[in-house]
Amino acid sequence: MKEFCVWFTGLPCSGKSTLANKLKEKLEELGKKVYILDGDIIRKELNVDLGFSEEDRRENIRRVSVVAKILTECGVVPIVALVSPFRESRKKARERMENFVEVYVRAPLEVCKERDVKGMYKLALEGKIKGFTGIDDPYEEPENPEVICETDKESVDESVEKILAYLENKGYLERKGYTEEEEEAVKKRLEELGYI
Ligand SMILES: Nc1ncnc2c1ncn2[C@@H]1O[C@H](COP(=O)(O)OP(=O)(O)O)[C@@H](O)[C@H]1O
Ligand SMILES: [Mg+2]
Repeated sequence: MKEFCVWFTGLPCSGKSTLANKLKEKLEELGKKVYILDGDIIRKELNVDLGFSEEDRRENIRRVSVVAKILTECGVVPIVALVSPFRESRKKARERMENFVEVYVRAPLEVCKERDVKGMYKLALEGKIKGFTGIDDPYEEPENPEVICETDKESVDESVEKILAYLENKGYLERKGYTEEEEEAVKKRLEELGYI
């Protein structure tokens, strides 16, 4: 089986961490070793020295891509869950490794604000934190992501299924022992995506 990296990008509260955790569970059930590189944790550990200026954000993404590449070389599937707002930085991460699967976790800004999982949008809107992506800092949407998860329209399971179907279709994963219902669901999803 080929090495691959799943890279989630999207606005704060779009659903990156939620999908990363669920995808990890599913990949582990299929016998993969998985490590999640989640922005929130990375910023408290590896990148504790970095802030939120454009330069620091680019460096944050760059370092995470270096670690992701190392993990692929160790036979581990890195799942990155980072806002990663810059197209150019994501492109560089892509160039660093083979089989880079960019997943655009898309939800309208209004929905993300409404979710406000950690109360950060509120603080940003009150001007209490500066440079918050989506409020007063830019987010550059992916132009050609491998997968788009529309988390305001899909359930977590549907979004994860979309990613698994993509990975399987590319030959990065092999799933066995489907029930008939699961077979049908996968087939339907692959048809919708235009793969079969
Ligand atoms: N299809 C979906 N995929 C992911 N998250 C969803 C979905 N539908 C609703 N949510 C909710 O949206 C929120 C996303 O939060 P989180 O995963 O922490 O976002 P992020 O890591 O992008 O900042 C969670 O409360 C989650 O339960
Ligand atoms: Mg998160």
